[in-house]
Amino acid sequence: MQRTAPLIGLAPGRHITLLAPFVSSTSPGGFSPWPYRPGLFFGWTAPADESGGTAYDVCPATRAAAAQHLLSMTQPLTPADYLKKILTARVYDVAVESDLEPARNLSRRLHNKVLLKREDQQPVFSFKLRGAYNKMAQLTPEQLQRGVICASAGNHAQGVAMSAHKLGTRAVIVMPTTTPQLKVDAVRALGGDVVLHGDSYSDAYGHAVHLQQEQGLTFVHPFDDPDVIAGQGTIAMEILRQLQKLGSTRLDAVFVAIGGGGLVSGVANYIKAVRPEIKVIGVQMNDSDAMMQSVQAGNRVTLPDVGLFSDGTAVKLVGEETFRIASGLVDEFMTVDTDAVCAAIKDVFVDTRSIVEPAGALAVAAIKQYVATHKTKGETYAAILCGANMNFDRLRFVAERAEVGEEREALLAVTIPEERGSFRRFCEVIGGLPGGPRNVTEFNYRISDAARAHVFVGLTAHGKGESEKLARNFTRHGFEALDLTHDELAKEHLRHLVGGHSALAQDERLLRFVFPERPGALLKFLSLMQPTWNISLFHYRNQGADYGRILVGLQVPPEDAAAFDAFLATLGYPHVEETLNPAYQLFLQAPRGDAKK
Ligand SMILES: Cc1ncc(COP(=O)(O)O)c(C=O)c1O
Repeated sequence: MQRTAPLIGLAPGRHITLLAPFVSSTSPGGFSPWPYRPGLFFGWTAPADESGGTAYDVCPATRAAAAQHLLSMTQPLTPADYLKKILTARVYDVAVESDLEPARNLSRRLHNKVLLKREDQQPVFSFKLRGAYNKMAQLTPEQLQRGVICASAGNHAQGVAMSAHKLGTRAVIVMPTTTPQLKVDAVRALGGDVVLHGDSYSDAYGHAVHLQQEQGLTFVHPFDDPDVIAGQGTIAMEILRQLQKLGSTRLDAVFVAIGGGGLVSGVANYIKAVRPEIKVIGVQMNDSDAMMQSVQAGNRVTLPDVGLFSDGTAVKLVGEETFRIASGLVDEFMTVDTDAVCAAIKDVFVDTRSIVEPAGALAVAAIKQYVATHKTKGETYAAILCGANMNFDRLRFVAERAEVGEEREALLAVTIPEERGSFRRFCEVIGGLPGGPRNVTEFNYRISDAARAHVFVGLTAHGKGESEKLARNFTRHGFEALDLTHDELAKEHLRHLVGGHSALAQDERLLRFVFPERPGALLKFLSLMQPTWNISLFHYRNQGADYGRILVGLQVPPEDAAAFDAFLATLGYPHVEETLNPAYQLFLQAPRGDAKK
């Protein structure tokens, strides 16, 4: 029997069969394959009955591979190393070779050929299965016997659970207690051993590290692991092969969503090893761009908060290895916003009749932005549709925002005189706007004083930049107009709230909050808000999204400002102060000097 162990003294009669340098991990839990502390691994001959110590069995067939692996850990893997790992990755026991298909409508609209890599077709509706399975398929029989563990409330959890089922091993999946039941059920249905712990991902992660050490399980990292990266890289291998079937091998750029960076690292390694002229473009949400900020800073940056809409890519800190690879191999990074992603979900639907999740549409949103910026024509782009795990009731939000994202709806605040005939004149201006007849999608107003009225109006628009032109057109006709098409406060709340001027609401401060939606969450928020200060406004609208949005006005006398700021800091909910927002001032804020009666 052969054994390997960290440095030991050998008994007489035994000889060394394997010698390889290694560096041990200092990351929390000690499961990261990323090396820091140098040392040596030994293999030595031993009697079959010898046991104990910190020795691990190495079967003769894997000894050479282990030595090579250990050696490779002393220096960063090159694209050539990754190429080999990708070419030999094991993914097809569980994953399918997803289609690469042209998006005909989008291609026509953009005057460029757009190809969609349909990772939404995977058995767990995302690519995560590839990396998880490749990692787990490399484990030793002993490791498989003990089982694996991960912390995830998302697609990685399902990938690990399914892979474990296929390999006949136990998978412990630690999820925060806030995880929607739908996702808990999906993981259980795949045979995962779900442990619910803590309120947040970091609580769940901490508990997973504890269980991993306690039960001797193997941690399957969602992105920062060479085997996971190599598994994801098989997508690029398929894309280049599938191009041939589509009749042309031309490919100018691949657009890839980035969370922790495992997917983009795998794709970039393969593309740069095989067809380096193809651009690899990494895409992040504008409120969740840890990789882009890290690459710009030259070291990994931890974001204090991440946007919650694209949950698949909401990562505060990217991986060490993924950072190294993305810094070196990704040609360009782009960010997109929520409205653009909603519009892209619709574009994918129009071309495929399938719905992808927000992270799954990032690449398409980026292609549209890239074409608009660079004014390209006749190029070929591939977008990886990386996932489709979205709650159905989120579609309401997506559908509403898709119109604004495409700028098919313009939202304006128009001020008209409170005098006979002015309303009619206003309607005539709408009827005569350049670009032909258009629908009024929304119309709210309230008299704010005896002289003027502020109207909140939604109008169908014909594309990017038109809302500004419409606003200018109203102004030319003597109606002061403010373009609110890109104003988060107006789109989320004010359109449903117009008419809220109150002379009583003196010293009002207006705040927007976002919190994970689940039973009791609103009540909890309210109880935390139990005021020293009077609540003068409260707007909550359940949009079927996973996250609730609340607008609160509190009356805070100027002398209480410091105490109020301290209260906000302890509250623990991300928020945006909107007191100076001009839309708030037009529609809601108390007229100055009208003291509380
Ligand atoms: C649908 C989807 N897209 C993109 C990503 C980001 O992948 P990575 O963390 O490897 O960058 C994830 C990660 O879970 C995901 O689930």
